[in-house]
Parts: sequence; structure tokens; C-alpha cells
Amino acid sequence: MAAALRIAGLKKSFGGLPAIADVTLEVAEGERRLIIGPNGAGKTTLFNLLTGDLSRDAGSITLFGEEVARLSTWRRCHRGLARTYQIITLFPKDTLEHNVALSLLGLSRRRWSMFGRLPASFYADAREVLARVGLEKVASRPIAEVAYGEKRRVEIAMALAQKPRVLLLDEPLAGLSREERGQLKSLIAGIPRETTVVMIEHDMDTALDLADRITVLHYGRVIVEGTRAEVVADPKTREVYLGH
Ligand SMILES: Nc1ncnc2c1ncn2[C@@H]1O[C@H](COP(=O)(O)OP(=O)(O)OP(=O)(O)O)[C@@H](O)[C@H]1O
Ligand SMILES: [Mg+2]
Repeated sequence: MAAALRIAGLKKSFGGLPAIADVTLEVAEGERRLIIGPNGAGKTTLFNLLTGDLSRDAGSITLFGEEVARLSTWRRCHRGLARTYQIITLFPKDTLEHNVALSLLGLSRRRWSMFGRLPASFYADAREVLARVGLEKVASRPIAEVAYGEKRRVEIAMALAQKPRVLLLDEPLAGLSREERGQLKSLIAGIPRETTVVMIEHDMDTALDLADRITVLHYGRVIVEGTRAEVVADPKTREVYLGH
């Protein structure tokens, strides 16, 4: 199978300190890849480099064979890349459906949010995708009035509305109750294989069963990579998580 995403020799430092020291990895089309690693390992920085929210110091990023490292976030988005953020970035006073509809505009979200109404088809798409994540009943409520777990699902709906070919999820399960985690995990498991999913999780146990392959990042480097069984059995994984 072709690679959806190929990263080679990727580097990014902040003030001389490497956050991504040297990362090379490949995610196959349709794969579910889990990226784990302790606080500060560079997981979110890696996503920021993939989307262009940050520019890299060195290295190559290819999406379906095309080099995208020099392209703007907007252009990468148009080539099928979508993400959620670790910290929720929604407009609290706007309704769920308006937030999702805005996401269809990509980078011009803020400008459009000031103008108000969007094309009707955007709302139709927004409602459809909100139904997919089980939020159709609260679609016309303001974001500020729904629970945290529902906000997280709105974020995923926003990314799905873009019909991404590669979806990046940054700790989508963080801060959720056990029940909500279960719901969100089945939602993620139900994303069709046309979409390649790369998911960051801080806690190794939470998301293991969603992954085909797992990459362990530590100090900006890939220290272990393989199937679930291989990664769990590798002593380096235990070293990072248990400190011995
Ligand atoms: N914009 C920035 N400016 C300066 N330093 C940064 C910036 N973004 C990240 N860093 C640093 O880069 C390193 C990696 O951070 P990153 O947020 O990628 O880690 P992470 O693996 O996502 O951690 P967590 O599990 O806590 O979310 C950290 O030392 C962090 O302080
Ligand atoms: Mg992070």
C-alpha cells in the first residue's frame, strides 16, 4: 500500500533546544497510527510541523507522495490534511453547527465568523457530520452550553467535515470520563479506512486497541515503533513509562 504520510529527517528546535530532534516515519494509507510518549516528547510539535502551524528547521514531509513542507497550512488542508487541537479552539457563543460550518472555510474561519451566515450547504454538511458524532440533538445550542466531552466531539466533527484523507487527532480522549472515552473510541474506530488516522495519546493504555501500529516518541526521537505487541514488549517502552 502507498504511504499516506512520509516524514524524513524532520527537525525543530526552540531556542536551541530540539523539540523534534530527528524524526523519520511512514504511515500507510488507511492505517491507524498511535503516537505516544511522555510530556514534552514532541508529539504536538510533530503535528504542528505536519500541518504547517510551525515551520520545520530541516526535513521532508510528503502527503501521498507530494512534498508539502513548504506549503501553507491552507494548502496542506486542501490536500486532505485535517487535525484537532489538544486545547479546544471553538467559538463559545456560536452554535455547534455554526462552528462546524465555519470549519469548512478552513483558515478564514475568524473572518467569516464576523460576517455571520454561511452558505446553506455548509449547515447541511455540518448537521450531517454532527449526527455522525451523535450530537444532532444539540446542534443548534451554543458551544458554551454543552459539556466538555461534547465539545471534544464537535472538534472531531469539524475535522471530519473537511472529509480528510489524513486526520490528526491530538489527545482526543484526554479529560473524558470512562463512558465518554468509550463513546469516542467507537466513533474513531468507525471512521472509514479512506481516512488515515494518526492519533496522539499521552496515556499508553487508553488508545492501544485503536492502533494498527504505534510510534513511541521521547525527547523528539522515535525510540520504538511497531505493532501493539512489539511496542508493549519492548524494554525501551517500559523504560520511558516506568523510568527503569
Ligand atoms: N511554541 C513553542 N515555543 C517554545 N517551546 C516549545 C513550543 N512548543 C513546544 N515547545 C517545547 O517543545 C517540547 C515538546 O513539546 P510538545 O508540546 O510537542 O510535547 P508533547 O509531547 O505534545 O507533550 P504533552 O504530552 O505534554 O502534550 C517541550 O519542551 C515544549 O516546551
Ligand atoms: Mg501535546
